[in-house]
Amino acid sequence: MPLPFPKPNALHEVKELPTLLFEKNVDIPLKDGQGLCRGNVYRPKEEGKYPVILTYGPYGKDVPYADFHGNSFKEIPDEQKSELSAWETPEPTYWTRHGYVVVRVDERGLGSSYGFLDTMSDQTSSDFAEVIEWCAEQPWSSGKVGLLGISYYGGSQWRVAARKPKGLACILPWEGMTDYYRDRVRHGGILSNNFVNFWWNNQVGPMQYGTADKRPRRFGPGQFGPPVGPECLEGTLPKEELVALRKDQTEDNKVNRYLDDPYHASRVYKLEDIDVPVLSVANLGGILLHLRGNVVGYLEAGTKNKWLWFISGRHDLPFYLPHFVELQKSFLDAWLKGEDSRGWTEGPNVKVPAVSLLVRKGNPGFNKTEYEQTFAFRDEKEWPLARTQYTKYYLQPDLSLATELPKEEKKIELEALGKSDPIMFTATFDKETEIAGHPTANLVYSVAKRADGTAPKDLDVFVTLRHLDAEGKEIFYTGTAGDPVPLAKGWLRASLRAINESDPRHREWLPRRDYESKDVAYLEPEQKYDLLVEIWPTQVVVSPGGKIVLEVATGDSQGCGIFLHNEETDRNEADLGGQNILHLGPNDQNWLCLPIV
Ligand SMILES: *[C@@H]1O[C@H](CO)[C@@H](O)[C@H](O)[C@H]1NC(C)=O
Ligand SMILES: *[C@@H]1O[C@H](CO)[C@@H](O)[C@H](O)[C@H]1NC(C)=O
Repeated sequence: MPLPFPKPNALHEVKELPTLLFEKNVDIPLKDGQGLCRGNVYRPKEEGKYPVILTYGPYGKDVPYADFHGNSFKEIPDEQKSELSAWETPEPTYWTRHGYVVVRVDERGLGSSYGFLDTMSDQTSSDFAEVIEWCAEQPWSSGKVGLLGISYYGGSQWRVAARKPKGLACILPWEGMTDYYRDRVRHGGILSNNFVNFWWNNQVGPMQYGTADKRPRRFGPGQFGPPVGPECLEGTLPKEELVALRKDQTEDNKVNRYLDDPYHASRVYKLEDIDVPVLSVANLGGILLHLRGNVVGYLEAGTKNKWLWFISGRHDLPFYLPHFVELQKSFLDAWLKGEDSRGWTEGPNVKVPAVSLLVRKGNPGFNKTEYEQTFAFRDEKEWPLARTQYTKYYLQPDLSLATELPKEEKKIELEALGKSDPIMFTATFDKETEIAGHPTANLVYSVAKRADGTAPKDLDVFVTLRHLDAEGKEIFYTGTAGDPVPLAKGWLRASLRAINESDPRHREWLPRRDYESKDVAYLEPEQKYDLLVEIWPTQVVVSPGGKIVLEVATGDSQGCGIFLHNEETDRNEADLGGQNILHLGPNDQNWLCLPIV
């Protein structure tokens, strides 16, 4: 039996805290009548109409940050934390002090919000749009709503902004994806399963509405936080009903392989429909999730008032650093309050450049805020940079990279499914060279027949760009979880190699793939195929004597962290197992194309 439909504002409480009014569990009705959102509203004490900063998401609006991820919470600067803090969201005492109402809402089916759970879906975005309109109409609201948050709370901003909800005045997506398929769950068509499993099993599943014992897990296997209920005052649900009331990303992404599957097609929207100001903040170290979407979002957003600013550092920390909070505040003050101290409302200009590029030079080390701060920022007018020289470095039989095609032929055999060590092709730069933009790589591959006469019908390409110093020692950058990461990665499933050049979003440096079932073209054995691999955007300054390595592999390699591609139904012996042959030679186009500036 489903739970009795909750009575209006059944859980509503108002608390007067020293610096703000805290309304807990305010009901936000949803038009379809099939669910209900509950939100926390944090308001300045003084009566008035204030602009709203809103987040809408899955991690439990009442789960204290300290319980969600205690070690991360310890590292947040004191002035950006309180007992009201929640993971990846703006801190209420700070923003209410600066004349904003902060609204934090559990999405339908999660935390305290009753209904069917389907994260990142069309339904989620339309619910979010309703919540924005609700915020704009409240007596305490000035009618202007801004969105600010990390990751999930960033990715959802693009999707909802494309629906143009009334009252939405600007968005500030901080390290969030824009494209469910290409950025998050299918890298080059290959299932990116391991992170989504971790995310679902630890951070989202345990927060489903109606779960008896809501225990978010801390990062790290088996580390449970304390229970965070009681949020399900209407009662709890048996397991079968919880299952019937949700769509599970770990299952859905296994069975839905193509972008024309209704599951994926319903998640597609047009970035060009976004007409509110956007400050897109991309993390150069987010090489498997928190980077591409911010860059492509900037490229495609319909508004003229758009900015792309790059940062580095661990995924959870920079958002709360004082200079970045100042940046967020100046942008929100301009678009939500009309208090424009920096010139945002004039559009991109010399005071607030369209692009603020992080210049990664030298080897400061990784996983420390002080190390990140040795990198400078440089103002730029556009992305990619107009002065880019796209330069091809051809793969040579001696494993170097050179600007001419090789003279000799060589076949390199790699065993599929990550069973061979990666092959490294190295370019040495005699003078200082900056790379900034979107690299690509073209590789000529075939699959061999197996001993029993059968053959694999597909192959997966995994490429990585690495930066070595003049001594040949690798320089690492800070990854999402503080782990050491290389410059960039790219992927391609050969059967999904078709490129749609007539799509206006296709660029030579950003090949556009539809990833639809119509595109599937399996491989014939012993036939060569040109595989053009999109590599995610990057920036680095290579010092004299420094090297760039193109690593070619058949599976995940160093730098993936938790973002592994190892789901058996997606990558298995029957489809992929066997020998992949890379064909180098004067008549084959094997190159790495670097954006040199
Ligand atoms: C990164 O630094 C944090 C402390 O700031 C530490 O807990 C963590 O283990 C470090 N991670 C790596 C991979 O070095
Ligand atoms: C290429 O993309 C365009 C625009 O999205 C679409 O209309 C067209 O059908 C696609 N072409 C093919 C061959 O699928």
